[in-house]
Amino acid sequence: MIISQNFLLEKLYGGFMKIETRDAFPDFVGFVSNIDLRQKLDNKQIEEIDLSINKYSVIVFKDQNISDEDQVRFTKYFGNIEASGKTSNITKAKDRRLSTDLADVSNLDKNNKPLSQNDPRRIFNLGNRLWHTDSSFKSIPAKYSLLSARNISEQGGNTEFADMRSAYDNLDELTQNKIQDMVCEHSLIYSRQRLGFDMVKELSSEEIKNFTPVEQPLVRINKITGRKVIFLSSHIGKIRDWIRPDSMCFIDDLIEYATQIKFKYIHKWSQNDLVIWDNRQTMHRVRAFDDLKEKRDMRRTTVLGEERLM
Ligand code: OGA
Ligand code: MN
Repeated sequence: MIISQNFLLEKLYGGFMKIETRDAFPDFVGFVSNIDLRQKLDNKQIEEIDLSINKYSVIVFKDQNISDEDQVRFTKYFGNIEASGKTSNITKAKDRRLSTDLADVSNLDKNNKPLSQNDPRRIFNLGNRLWHTDSSFKSIPAKYSLLSARNISEQGGNTEFADMRSAYDNLDELTQNKIQDMVCEHSLIYSRQRLGFDMVKELSSEEIKNFTPVEQPLVRINKITGRKVIFLSSHIGKIRDWIRPDSMCFIDDLIEYATQIKFKYIHKWSQNDLVIWDNRQTMHRVRAFDDLKEKRDMRRTTVLGEERLM
């Protein structure tokens, strides 16, 4: 484990990117301000960014005034793009504000007006306020997410990240052993249910098939660094061979433990920040803002995972 961490450090030493860190989370979040992501990057530069995502988990690029096309091109350096809106029927194709290469995580409709209180799209998006990893409910869960802040809210709307590697490392041995081979069911139905949004009622039986729960291991390993993580998400609704209420209590306890302040970085957005996070080793959530009045225009591209975990 230490060898691979050193290997990463060595590879990153003297690279093209200057990464700054902060004392509170030296191994979790890197800040980069000296590069322009609209530029073409060569393979070495791409590898350097990729390794630094593996090493840290969250990379904050400041002052990236990019277009959707720039964001999509940059994202494709790291793998295939996960198309948005394929499985969710909450936003109809005719109502989309952005191309399907981007997930629209703003609070805006096609006319750039805030969604109204009872709009199902708004309620569906409220799921991002719960701790989660992106697309953990898909058989191949997301690898990286890249979120570009095109317009930020004046109040609130911070995004929080929790380090699932440190959370795993700090578990007592008994719990580490207990969760080692656990398998969890993930579905958007479960996370929306937590909000009181009953997708089974809102969608047709044909549509609801897209949300059939998917099994994922609760412990996973980053193959590059060799570090283990707790693969947690509010999309979890059941542990294999457990009943649901016991599963919920156990998972909620774990989420509460894993999102303590010592594992957490709170990102306060500036206009044109682009933040990349590694869904394989973090959880995240967005905090409340006055979304019926303010406009928060955030656009996400997502790098598809490379493999099934089960
Ligand atoms: C996401 C997400 C958080 C935010 O894009 O996956 O959860 O800050 N968004 O909008
Ligand atoms: Mn998310």
